[in-house]
Amino acid sequence: MSDGPLARQGVCILGATGSIGTSTLEVLARHPDRFRVVALTAHSNVDQLIGLCRRFEPELAAIGDARQTALLAEGLRKADLRTAAVGGAAGLVQAACLESADCVVAAIVGAAGLSATLAAARAGKRLLLANKEAIVCAGSLLIEAVRNSRGSLLPVDSEHNAIHQCLAAARDAHHAVKRLILTASGGPFLRRADLAGVTPEQACAHPKWNMGRKISVDSATLMNKGLEVIEANWLFGFEPEQIDVVIHPQSVIHSMVEFVDGSVLAQMGTPDMRTPIAYALGFPERISSGSPRLDLLQAGPLQFEAPDQHRFPCLRLAYQALQAGPSACIALNAANEVAVDSFLKRELPFARIPAVIQEVLVASRGAPPDSVEAILDLDDGARRQARSVLTKKIWAS
Ligand SMILES: NC(=O)c1ccc[n+]([C@@H]2O[C@H](COP(=O)([O-])OP(=O)(O)OC[C@H]3O[C@@H](n4cnc5c(N)ncnc54)[C@H](OP(=O)(O)O)[C@@H]3O)[C@@H](O)[C@H]2O)c1
Repeated sequence: MSDGPLARQGVCILGATGSIGTSTLEVLARHPDRFRVVALTAHSNVDQLIGLCRRFEPELAAIGDARQTALLAEGLRKADLRTAAVGGAAGLVQAACLESADCVVAAIVGAAGLSATLAAARAGKRLLLANKEAIVCAGSLLIEAVRNSRGSLLPVDSEHNAIHQCLAAARDAHHAVKRLILTASGGPFLRRADLAGVTPEQACAHPKWNMGRKISVDSATLMNKGLEVIEANWLFGFEPEQIDVVIHPQSVIHSMVEFVDGSVLAQMGTPDMRTPIAYALGFPERISSGSPRLDLLQAGPLQFEAPDQHRFPCLRLAYQALQAGPSACIALNAANEVAVDSFLKRELPFARIPAVIQEVLVASRGAPPDSVEAILDLDDGARRQARSVLTKKIWAS
């Protein structure tokens, strides 16, 4: 814990070497008087992690791939740093629960971030959530953990961050809000009629946002928006029918809230994750982020259109999973992670990603899981099933 009311907040970043992790460190570097970095984690990128430790001198560095722990320890010793090295799943949890961490930024990609994110919530940390797959898989446990530990949760995902900002205008959100409107850029293939032959490079070349590879593919299939609908359901407690999606290619409006009196509030800004990260880090104060200012005269006309759920069925599949319940959401996420990975390895054609997910989703069933172990079990089963769908079929692109 920090050592006094005016002391700097200790920050742990789970997934420090990624896109969100790096943007968070850029914001933190602007505010050395407010924050100090106390723990950083990565999966396997030891060299980058050591480089970040040289710059930010945390107490602890954790590497998810336990086989690399010795390499990390040696690198830190050679760099003459006092940073302790830990590894494996237990190492990530240790970082998330570090006594000196007031705030934990959950920025690991995929369900792999679930255990550490949940551990931070249970430890009563101020949790800044980017790892949407964690809340998609374990929404109930995560929200309950934050409540029971008297911690807090602030969304980093730009859409949910925008909604958090808009909801501040209502005293009793549950009576005041008619619906949430999540905006989606539409991804790189919004205007591409034929999705045959799409390459990983094309799918990862997002027109507006610079992000990690998995979320970039999710944006291209619209699964990212589907996961966000489920995330919004858990974060804000509105029914699926009250959560709409609208395509807004300019990515100037990051999401909106419609109130019962007809008012619609929008949060705007340039498409730069440093803005929602700075909002969450500074909340309830506002701190500078380093992102470019929004120039409305340069932004051009703002357009809106309905998502095409026939060309991009993943959004529809996510709504179906949300209606079906937590087990289906876990299956949806696991099948998507397996299918995206296979596409990035050039094994599965882009246009077949939804078919793999659908097949796993149809077979998913079971009571809502009530423990991390039960969630990881369902996740594992859905992954195995997705892999068997992949091996059974010969995919034509
Ligand atoms: N990027 C964005 O603009 C954005 C916006 C909104 C929400 N998000 C969400 O934020 C999360 C992170 O996205 P990103 O784009 O920053 O991803 P990314 O660039 O791929 O970074 C992922 C981070 O997680 C670590 N990691 C990967 N697999 C891991 C594992 N099995 N165990 C432990 N750590 C692991 C990586 O370490 P290595 O470097 O060692 O592999 C890296 O530090 C995702 O859930 C995404 O949906 C991202």
